[in-house]
Amino acid sequence: MIADGKRLYILNGPNLNLLGKRQPEIYGRETLADVEAACRAIAEPAGLTIRFEQSNAEHQIIDWIHEAREDGCGIVINPGAFTHTSVAILDALNAFEAPVFEVHISNVHKRESFRHHSFVSLRADGVIAGFGTQGYALAVERMLTLLKG
Ligand code: DQA
Repeated sequence: MIADGKRLYILNGPNLNLLGKRQPEIYGRETLADVEAACRAIAEPAGLTIRFEQSNAEHQIIDWIHEAREDGCGIVINPGAFTHTSVAILDALNAFEAPVFEVHISNVHKRESFRHHSFVSLRADGVIAGFGTQGYALAVERMLTLLKG
């Protein structure tokens, strides 16, 4: 077991429940269930437990970040559109002390200018964008490296 039995939180924001169906030319054809399975396949053999969640509600994401203060060894978060709007999610992440990685499936910097600013990046220890759904797996790999010391 690593991380003293604490869990890696992988949190997904609005519209990511539609992954695989929503704008596949941008976000690909893999579903969020596929992403979860890929993350578990990396983390669990290494002894790292995952809590994988998605919500369309900002308050729910904030509540999960608060829960991570109790039993989270790190957070991987794709906040969806809340990335560009939510000071409240930034504040919640600022109250969490372990590593935070921000993941975007698409390269937000290649898209509309309103996607170029991220409140979450002011807290994130690392940012992955434009690697498709594989970005989640890369973030989990990096988290394992940090947790193993
Ligand atoms: C996203 C990029 C955001 O701008 C967008 O609102 C999303 C998904 C991504 O994963 O590329 O919902 O976070």
